[in-house]
Amino acid sequence: MSNFPKVGILGAGQLGKMLCQAASPWELPIHCLDASKDFPAGPYCQGFTEGSFKAYEDVLQFGRQMDLLTIEIEHVNTEALAVLQKEGKTVHPNPQSLSIIKDKGLQKQFYAKHNIPTSDFQLYDSKELLIEAVMDGTRSIPFVQKSRLAGYDGKGVAVIRSKEDLSSKLLEGPSMVEDLVAIEKEIAVVVARNENGEIKAFDPVEMEFHPTANLVEFLSCPAVLTSTQETTAIELSKKIIEAFDICGLLAVELFLNKAGAIIVNEVAPRPHNSGHHTIDSAITSQYEQHLRGILNLPLGSTKMTSPSIMVNLLGHPDHTGPVYYEGLSECLAIEGVKVHIYGKAITKPFRKMGHVTVIADTLADARKKAKKVQALLKAITV
Ligand SMILES: Nc1ncnc2c1ncn2[C@@H]1O[C@H](COP(=O)(O)OP(=O)(O)OP(=O)(O)O)[C@@H](O)[C@H]1O
Ligand SMILES: [Mg+2]
Repeated sequence: MSNFPKVGILGAGQLGKMLCQAASPWELPIHCLDASKDFPAGPYCQGFTEGSFKAYEDVLQFGRQMDLLTIEIEHVNTEALAVLQKEGKTVHPNPQSLSIIKDKGLQKQFYAKHNIPTSDFQLYDSKELLIEAVMDGTRSIPFVQKSRLAGYDGKGVAVIRSKEDLSSKLLEGPSMVEDLVAIEKEIAVVVARNENGEIKAFDPVEMEFHPTANLVEFLSCPAVLTSTQETTAIELSKKIIEAFDICGLLAVELFLNKAGAIIVNEVAPRPHNSGHHTIDSAITSQYEQHLRGILNLPLGSTKMTSPSIMVNLLGHPDHTGPVYYEGLSECLAIEGVKVHIYGKAITKPFRKMGHVTVIADTLADARKKAKKVQALLKAITV
């Protein structure tokens, strides 16, 4: 008899790879479904099925060979997951919540229904209907327009600040439109839950923006917050995972607004960019915690062992082709620098090729080293 069910992950990107790595010390059997075995998780899982996690038949056939299904990306076929659940498979996150979260419109309606603070919003079926609403004064500028489906990494988000932006920036298709928030800080809380109802949250993480380019430069942990703000962010995140009835991880992206209130931006029911540092700076990594959550095992300690700064390693803007990591050995010479390369053969401008977590006694020290890493380490072609 095995201690573990056979686990299937929809997706085999870097999050899948790191889930497989977390499964390895337990010899937990993990299988992945994705387009190619050459994807990051390919070499780290016990079984690989080539197919599309968006295709009903592929997900159904793959799922029928597993005991438990989970995801590393939201944009999967939830109809097939719902059928698998009916057939007796365990599916975490549950397909009903996943369908809500996948759609930014339904997600916002869920917050409204559960009294979870978020910015006011409306839904529009097309760009033309949104323009009409602006013209007749029912929708005022500024606002943020988000595609209801398939947005990620800020694609599918348009910030409209003036009438001129209407002609150049509006997105096609059904969208969710919300008030522009006056943001003081962007933070995230990764929270986990298991079937027994146990819930644990990691410390909030702060997104530090580049002073001039409008890009997240560093993710620092712990976030610099008052203790009331920290408690509010954590309690809100716990309330949301409970409301969705999710097992495994839920990453909650939050805004601290200029008025001092903490409101929800959006959530992701899976490991998240804002939890990478936990591999190197917490007793339990977010990946191990996800496995504990979906397997109904006791959740691990979320205690941080060190302050940390995480930097995404993005493909150099001027390079496309077979990747070479310039500056790698120089970075490894710096104490506390932990390099994670995802194993993507080809680099492209701004593609997520890896990340680096810098641990140090203080955040200030970690930030200094992170700046050095940023200057040294480059994903290029040679
Ligand atoms: N209502 C808002 N007011 C002000 N800024 C916003 C608002 N909504 C989003 N943003 C900005 O746009 C960014 C991306 O938005 P969002 O997280 O909804 O999109 P996304 O495509 O899921 O991005 P990612 O995958 O990077 O999380 C936010 O991190 C924030 O900086
Ligand atoms: Mg986001």
